[in-house]
Amino acid sequence: MASTTLTVLLLLPLLPFAIPAQAQSNITLGSSLIADDRNSSWKSSSGDFAFGFQRIGNGGFLLAIWFDKIPEKTVIWFANGDKLAPQGSKVDLTRTGSLVLSDHKGEQLWARGTGTGVSHAAILDTGNFVLADQTGSNLWESFNEPSDTIMPTQVLDQDTKIVSRYSAMNYSRGRFELSLQSKDGNLNMHTRPVYDDAYWYTSQGYGYQLIFNRTGPIYLAAKNGSVVYTMMSGTVSSTNYQRAVLEYDGVFRQYVYPKDASLSSGRSMGWSPVASPVPSNICTSMRQSIGAGTCGWNSYCILGDNQRPKCRCPLGYSYMDPSDEMNGCKPDFLPQSCDKAMLETDLFRINEMINTDWPLSDYERYDNVDEDFCAQVCLSDCLCDVAIIRDGTCWKKKMPLSNGKMDPSVGGKALIKVSKDNSTLNIPPAGSKKDKNRPMIIVGSVILSSSAALNLILILLILLIWFRFNHDKKPETVHGHPINRFSSMLSFTYEELRVATGGFTEELGKGAFGVVYKGVLTSNERSLIAVKVLEKITSEGDREFKNEMSTIGRTNHRNLVELIGFCEEGQHRILVYDFMPNGSLADFLFGGSRPSWFKRIEIACGVARSLLYLHEESSKQIIHCDIKPQNILLDECLTAKISDFGLAKLLMTGQTRTMTVVRGTKGYLAPEWFRSLPISVKVDVYSFGIVLLELICCRKNCEFGLKDEAQMILSDWVYDCYHKEELGLIVDGDEEMIGDMKRVRRFVMIAMWCIQEDPSLRPSMKKVAQMLDGAVEVSVPPEPASFISSLQ
Ligand SMILES: *[C@@H]1O[C@H](CO)[C@@H](O)[C@H](O)[C@H]1NC(C)=O
Ligand SMILES: *[C@@H]1O[C@H](CO)[C@@H](O)[C@H](O)[C@H]1NC(C)=O
Ligand SMILES: *[C@@H]1O[C@H](CO)[C@@H](O)[C@H](O)[C@H]1NC(C)=O
Ligand SMILES: *[C@@H]1O[C@H](CO)[C@@H](O)[C@H](O)[C@H]1NC(C)=O
Ligand SMILES: *[C@@H]1O[C@H](CO)[C@@H](O)[C@H](O)[C@H]1NC(C)=O
Ligand SMILES: *[C@@H]1O[C@H](CO)[C@@H](O)[C@H](O)[C@H]1NC(C)=O
Repeated sequence: MASTTLTVLLLLPLLPFAIPAQAQSNITLGSSLIADDRNSSWKSSSGDFAFGFQRIGNGGFLLAIWFDKIPEKTVIWFANGDKLAPQGSKVDLTRTGSLVLSDHKGEQLWARGTGTGVSHAAILDTGNFVLADQTGSNLWESFNEPSDTIMPTQVLDQDTKIVSRYSAMNYSRGRFELSLQSKDGNLNMHTRPVYDDAYWYTSQGYGYQLIFNRTGPIYLAAKNGSVVYTMMSGTVSSTNYQRAVLEYDGVFRQYVYPKDASLSSGRSMGWSPVASPVPSNICTSMRQSIGAGTCGWNSYCILGDNQRPKCRCPLGYSYMDPSDEMNGCKPDFLPQSCDKAMLETDLFRINEMINTDWPLSDYERYDNVDEDFCAQVCLSDCLCDVAIIRDGTCWKKKMPLSNGKMDPSVGGKALIKVSKDNSTLNIPPAGSKKDKNRPMIIVGSVILSSSAALNLILILLILLIWFRFNHDKKPETVHGHPINRFSSMLSFTYEELRVATGGFTEELGKGAFGVVYKGVLTSNERSLIAVKVLEKITSEGDREFKNEMSTIGRTNHRNLVELIGFCEEGQHRILVYDFMPNGSLADFLFGGSRPSWFKRIEIACGVARSLLYLHEESSKQIIHCDIKPQNILLDECLTAKISDFGLAKLLMTGQTRTMTVVRGTKGYLAPEWFRSLPISVKVDVYSFGIVLLELICCRKNCEFGLKDEAQMILSDWVYDCYHKEELGLIVDGDEEMIGDMKRVRRFVMIAMWCIQEDPSLRPSMKKVAQMLDGAVEVSVPPEPASFISSLQ
């Protein structure tokens, strides 16, 4: 060990003199290079190429091979792109014949060569660095381990790959890869680290090697040497340097550089492209189902000069990382909240971009609609971030958006939902409270530093701000009502509710739990309320009341009716809800006119989402037990909101999930209710299936007195129609549905799964929601046992 150190010490002073003196070819064992600013390197005999260290900004040194005679010193191979070597690092050609890169402390960073038989190393005039034996045959060559570049005479064997660097000056492994696969003999380019479909590939097979001919062409050769595919067809004279590189934008390009230009003046002529790059338009080539595409999430790709892709953010979005435009975009505003989407609808507007699309990421589609409709459905859906309208079809998409592109071949228009309020720009969700205060502080200090004559104005301002501040907080402290410790629910006195409902006079409806009255809260923004007076609560339910209220109070979903507060006073147990002006789904569906199919789709999806929330996403699992159109209410935008959730427990006797008294409503009840079987979330799935059928057909599940008895039980009839491939019968001439039969069929199949007699066969609400969105395939459902038989 001491002797190695000694050799190094001895060699050190020699290097600066030895190297520039003359181009050398054979490098003897025991030679080394130090990473410092003396630019020491080993050169090829012509002097065209050098092997050694290049300083990369302030990050450290790259062990590399480069074109040495041109001012750019363009790198064609590198060893340690992922981890640059610190100043003082060293590359040794050891006496045992290995090539070892170690840092200033002697720690090994990279090494190649087993050592056996190596007699010397050389950097050849092709740019290949080799470890060779006595006979001159190569035991290791940099050409067999390419980085991002291939050179004339270089051959890419099967199962070798080249990987792009991360960016122009960052040599870390980047986002793209080119490889020749042995399994099918095809060349393909794909993204990394997530591998999905290739964005460019050959398909004829038989590829054995990718050959970069000295004269310019780059082609795929079969085992017998015949050309099976020409990738680059340019011919280049020998007065040029050449290289072909998979660049950090994912495009494979071939370049030339005139040798004499570099010789004569030393003035840079630069590299110029030969032949057409591959792929010729990476923006439109990218269409992978996994990963973000060329430009990262939420951004879009547009082809610029020289077929170079540029990554841009939609209006209202900005780069995730301003120093790396290929790393995606993020919205500059807080996305629409699903908690109070109804209130927030007018806070958002649409930015339009023509010829733009994010081909995937859609979760819902509408056919035969216009742009206005498309914009409206996106604005009114808190999940929708972008809608695409093209040829009368509207796709709703949610973030993260992938493979974005803007190109004349795309057509159509992207409708991008952005916040109207510029003041929410760049406010991180966690710090929003602090930021709200900021303008006040600025105003305050400006005033303070100016004339004392403005004191009066200052006082007025402070008063105004104080007033506004308190006004902003209002929803939390309405009329000084005590706030429930668990949530923002209010606690009302019986007297207050008696006044609000005018003595419980205007009846809105009668449900399983009691009568619902309309009421008005004076001096409250949310003035109209629905007051539900509970009856028939068991003594156990009574004890549970507070607990249940806290559970319900913590639920918060755009498709649930919001519980504003409650009253627990003496015998009175009263719930106060938001008033829903459009009544129930029952009125909407079974009233006179047939509602729009697309509205019905939205309602089905909304109900599914809220059940998914109650079952899986709320803090405590809630089984509704009484899903039916009468319990699904509609707000002013006809958004479906489930009511009466969380109440079933108050009416249960005993702790078990087996009920002695059948809850719920005939026709929507799962068979387990009649068989003393355990009650699980699957009872809600069953009821949802029936409601879904009613939404599809705009009629009740059981309708007596029909001419055709076969149609009496909806679920039986629809299954028959489905089974006989006669779904045309159930749409009843509905034009919108006829244009959307694929979805009608899918929805029918989902409903059939939901109403399976065996609860374990029914899908979870999560699966249901995914199937409705079209995110998951729906398999062929077995026949659900008929409704009649399930009554036994
Ligand atoms: C090493 O290269 C850098 C950049 O090319 C140059 O500025 C510097 O003068 C060179 N140092 C020596 C000792 O040649
Ligand atoms: C390099 O070394 C090999 C093997 O030792 C030898 O055959 C060859 O002549 C040497 N080349 C030069 C230019 O010294
Ligand atoms: C290069 O990019 C990678 C990936 O983003 C990053 O981790 C690394 O720090 C970058 N290297 C330099 C020298 O900037
Ligand atoms: C490859 O280059 C050689 C000369 O080096 C030439 O004779 C040959 O025709 C070229 N092959 C192809 C396929 O271009
Ligand atoms: C070489 O192989 C390819 C692909 O297998 C085949 O199409 C071609 O006929 C072969 N050529 C010769 C000369 O054998
Ligand atoms: C918000 O910004 C947009 C674009 O910069 C501008 O057109 C609009 O008038 C601004 N709105 C408000 C309320 O300042």
